[in-house]
Amino acid sequence: MFKRKSLHKLVEEANGEAHGLRRALGALNLVSLGVGCIIGAGIFVLTGQAAAQYAGPGIALSFVLSAVACTFAGLCYAEFASMIPISGSAYTYAYATIGEFFAWIIGWDLVLEYLFGASTVAVGWSGYVVSFLRDFHIQLPPELTAASLTSLIPLDGGWVQATPALVAELATKGIDAAALPHVTAIANLPAMFIIAAMTTLLVVGIRESAGFNNVIVAIKLCVIVLFIIFGFSYVHAANWTPFVPENTGTFGQFGWSGILRGSGVIFFAYIGFDAVSTAAQEAKNPRRDMPIGILGSLALCSVLYVLVSLVMTGMVKYTSLSVPDPIAVAVNAAGDGLFWLRPFIKIGAVAGLTSVVLVLLMGQPRIFFAMSHDGLLPKVFAKTHPRFKTPYVTTLVTGTVAMIVAGTFPIQMLGELVSIGTLLAFVIVCVGVLVLRYRHPEFPRAFKTPWVPVVPILGAVLALAQMAGLPLDTWLRLLVWMAIGFIIYFGYGHWHSRLHLQKMAGTPG
Ligand code: ALA
Repeated sequence: MFKRKSLHKLVEEANGEAHGLRRALGALNLVSLGVGCIIGAGIFVLTGQAAAQYAGPGIALSFVLSAVACTFAGLCYAEFASMIPISGSAYTYAYATIGEFFAWIIGWDLVLEYLFGASTVAVGWSGYVVSFLRDFHIQLPPELTAASLTSLIPLDGGWVQATPALVAELATKGIDAAALPHVTAIANLPAMFIIAAMTTLLVVGIRESAGFNNVIVAIKLCVIVLFIIFGFSYVHAANWTPFVPENTGTFGQFGWSGILRGSGVIFFAYIGFDAVSTAAQEAKNPRRDMPIGILGSLALCSVLYVLVSLVMTGMVKYTSLSVPDPIAVAVNAAGDGLFWLRPFIKIGAVAGLTSVVLVLLMGQPRIFFAMSHDGLLPKVFAKTHPRFKTPYVTTLVTGTVAMIVAGTFPIQMLGELVSIGTLLAFVIVCVGVLVLRYRHPEFPRAFKTPWVPVVPILGAVLALAQMAGLPLDTWLRLLVWMAIGFIIYFGYGHWHSRLHLQKMAGTPG
């Protein structure tokens, strides 16, 4: 259970071409992969609600806080990814530092980040596309646009979930929700469609996928920059005062505790810089380019996020931002002057979410690929396509499961699971850097995390603190997920692991 992989063996594996993947990605592609995965539902959907409910204009400070926490973890990822450039990411780092059982657990946990993450963002994508099509008077059947069994009612020209909060709000306006027509959803078809489309692209090739991602990233960056530049002239300083609204008396509702709660919510917006590390075996020069990809994308997005949140809360009072499309609401508030920008915002959001789905769906199969290489998953998962040079079996398995999850589960439940899973991986990676510095101080590191042990310790503590802020339900789901992983490990992985078999055969691991 506590068998560890030798660092030298790992580096040999990473250098060998026998893995069958194609080394096609340079530094710019890697930064673009990071940005492709980072900018998505977090900034386009969650920011408004976090500002309206928890932090007010101070949401910009929440973004700074979360960026600092992610930077600590990012520095640790950068050290590992340049030192052990294997596609398994945190899973492989744990295998080299803490041992096989924890490696399996963290690999299993990463499914929450990548596979469930792709499903979550696909559901957000579906929401934007349905509303975009409605702008052109194309109405998809509501029963095919939401999680299975969701009860939908008509509102403002579309169909929305009849949550208890909405029913209560309608009641205050004298509307009886029960008297409105109801539709029970069957599945979220647009969400399933985007997963199927991105899976197909990923099977065809890493180069094609990266090229497509570059185009999309350029579109979404343009839209974000246009919003910042043109929105800035519509900022009313009065909307920023008070910058940190007074706490209501409840922890997390405005004041400094609200900024903290806000940073927990918008943490989701930063997820993705770590996904760069899953492309390590397809990077041309991983030792130099992995840190550039991870830290470069994180830095760029952090600056953009702080600027977007400042402009957004300056254009409209934060109280009116509790909507699923806050950037669009801010642009609408500017009136005719920014009329031309409206369609671009929706295009930017749809493009943005598309590349997040793409990169997350790219990461998951590569982690399974590494696990299968080590014998913890069946060999078929490590199969690469003879022509496309992609791990096509795992890509198809991942895509199929993600499609089912996206079609049947609601977004809130998925989103929190994704955050807790990612934060747990951050804790392990930060601890791993410390362990390896202590155990193998001599091992060459192309990139070194600065101020060790302070940075890794702070990285782990801040990730744990953000986990602590998540609801009990999410913790329970995490535990159930881990228990399933536990059963699979002792039912299969433990007995088939390459290290275990080598030990049984008496050959060195
Ligand atoms: N950071 C990604 C997003 O916000 C997951 O969609």
